[in-house]
Amino acid sequence: MAENNIYKPIKYKVDKIVEETSNIKTFFISSEKDFEFDTGQFVEVTLDGIGEAPYTPSSSPYIKNKMELTIMNAGYVTGKMHQLKGGETIGIRGPFGKGYPIKKFYGTEILILGGGVGLAPLRCLILTLLEEEDKFKKINICFGAKTPADFIYKDWFSELEKHKKVRLLRSVDVPDKDWDGTVGVVTVLLDEIKANYQEINSIVCGPPIMMKFGAKKLLELGVNEKNIYLSMETNMSCGLGKCGHCDMDGLYVCKDGPVFTFDEVKHTTEMKEFFRLFKDK
Ligand SMILES: Cc1cc2nc3c(=O)[nH]c(=O)nc-3n(C[C@H](O)[C@H](O)[C@H](O)COP(=O)(O)OP(=O)(O)OC[C@H]3O[C@@H](n4cnc5c(N)ncnc54)[C@H](O)[C@@H]3O)c2cc1C
Ligand code: FES
Repeated sequence: MAENNIYKPIKYKVDKIVEETSNIKTFFISSEKDFEFDTGQFVEVTLDGIGEAPYTPSSSPYIKNKMELTIMNAGYVTGKMHQLKGGETIGIRGPFGKGYPIKKFYGTEILILGGGVGLAPLRCLILTLLEEEDKFKKINICFGAKTPADFIYKDWFSELEKHKKVRLLRSVDVPDKDWDGTVGVVTVLLDEIKANYQEINSIVCGPPIMMKFGAKKLLELGVNEKNIYLSMETNMSCGLGKCGHCDMDGLYVCKDGPVFTFDEVKHTTEMKEFFRLFKDK
């Protein structure tokens, strides 16, 4: 996918669009040229005359001629993306940033905590891990959603459960009459896991508030701050470490991230303010 001019989007066709929930859709994009990206990296997607926004591919980096992007309708550009019907052309630049250090996870137990549209980058990560499933002791996956209808990738869960190293747990804030699983915010699932938290590598992705409560709970359970990986989201522009739009107290999310360990981001104003709330409790 890389081209000489990193500022210039390359045109791709949207083959198909699948509605995941009332405000999240998956866009299937194909190309004769290979898409090259590492799990956790992001791309900038341009709609001509509308604007550009960053997304993390939700498909496997092992599949080179296709890419999937799962996008929540959050505002202007994403709203226009949601109006596409399929067959249109979009521009893509990238990939940018640093992804997950997969090789560091070899030989360890993994815990993945995700909520909402945060399951998009996590799907890419999980598909990558499953390519080398035998290299990991265990892959614990905790997914949360507001209601059962708000889960994306509903058809994928039964596939995941077939993998012998995978343990999948799901929770919802508000159940419907058919839900017989856990009820509560996604972090309640961590009490069910019974992992060796001192050695585990954990990956958290979801709405900012979920990531903070997720990190807090993992720290309380004894997970090393260098073993908690967070995928940070900020407003972006260039995606290249040039414009400063994504500055997070000295860290550029587009270039130094978007994947950071808790240890790397704990000094940021956002994290410090959140943890100050609990300091004396
Ligand atoms: C590295 C990275 C990967 C991402 N991957 C995905 C993905 O796979 N799927 C997905 O649905 N979304 C993803 N996002 C978030 C997505 O980029 C934003 O939702 C999008 O840029 C909003 O654009 P908009 O024009 O629709 O919203 P706007 O009209 O610009 O804004 C709507 C609201 O969203 C806020 N906002 C704008 N940009 C962001 C942002 N980047 N993060 C948080 N809040 C923002 C605004 O402040 C405003 O309150 C990712 C963001 C980053 C930085
Ligand atoms: S988006 Fe321009 S420096 Fe990060």
